[in-house]
Amino acid sequence: MSDKIAEEGKLSAAKRALSYVKDDMTIGLGTGSTTAYFLRLLSEQVCDGLAIVGIPTSKSTEKMARKLGIKVATDFSGILDADFDGADEVDSSGNLVKGGGGALTREKIIASNSRKFIVLVDDSKLTEGHLSRSKIPVEILPFMAQLTLNKLKTMAISCEVRKSFTTDNGNYIVDCNFGKIDEPGHLESQIKMIPGVVEVGLFVKMANKIIVGSGDSSYELNY
Ligand code: 5RP
Repeated sequence: MSDKIAEEGKLSAAKRALSYVKDDMTIGLGTGSTTAYFLRLLSEQVCDGLAIVGIPTSKSTEKMARKLGIKVATDFSGILDADFDGADEVDSSGNLVKGGGGALTREKIIASNSRKFIVLVDDSKLTEGHLSRSKIPVEILPFMAQLTLNKLKTMAISCEVRKSFTTDNGNYIVDCNFGKIDEPGHLESQIKMIPGVVEVGLFVKMANKIIVGSGDSSYELNY
């Protein structure tokens, strides 16, 4: 798929997602290029009087939202009305790989505390059957990172520490190749049992709605 068509798909998904934002909502603001389209469109609605509070899933999203004039809160103790975020890969059951931008931990906290988790993707992110194309980002503590990495390596085909990158939480990201993932929930639990692992970029049975942008049109998958 050409970059231009993928970008068009991201914009179409973002436009459709906007119809789920209503006055007085508190919403999660995801991270990545698809969410960036959503933020730009959202800021236009805010200019026209839409009253929302956004909870950013990363420092970069916080910066962008503030610049666009979107009201932002970085401390919140309730349940969000909805969370809008992108994904790196989506399987036929709506399970996701996330964390391409390294924001997976904050993204998972926000998604799991939202009434609706709405995912925006262009159709190049869809995989028939099981997750298989993306490496799975795993956030790990810097403390004794090599020991955590050794354990991850026993489970994966290969693992690579993301170069020159630390997360907003001051941690490392390890991108792991697990091949085709038949049981993402099981794999997620196994990885999370390794001491030193903070979070895994497998989002299993979390999405309520996937909005897929395909060129200049879009459609929805509901779970
Ligand atoms: C960031 C993410 C992003 O949502 C994911 O990487 C998709 O990004 P993009 O919309 O740029 O393709 O999980 O941690």
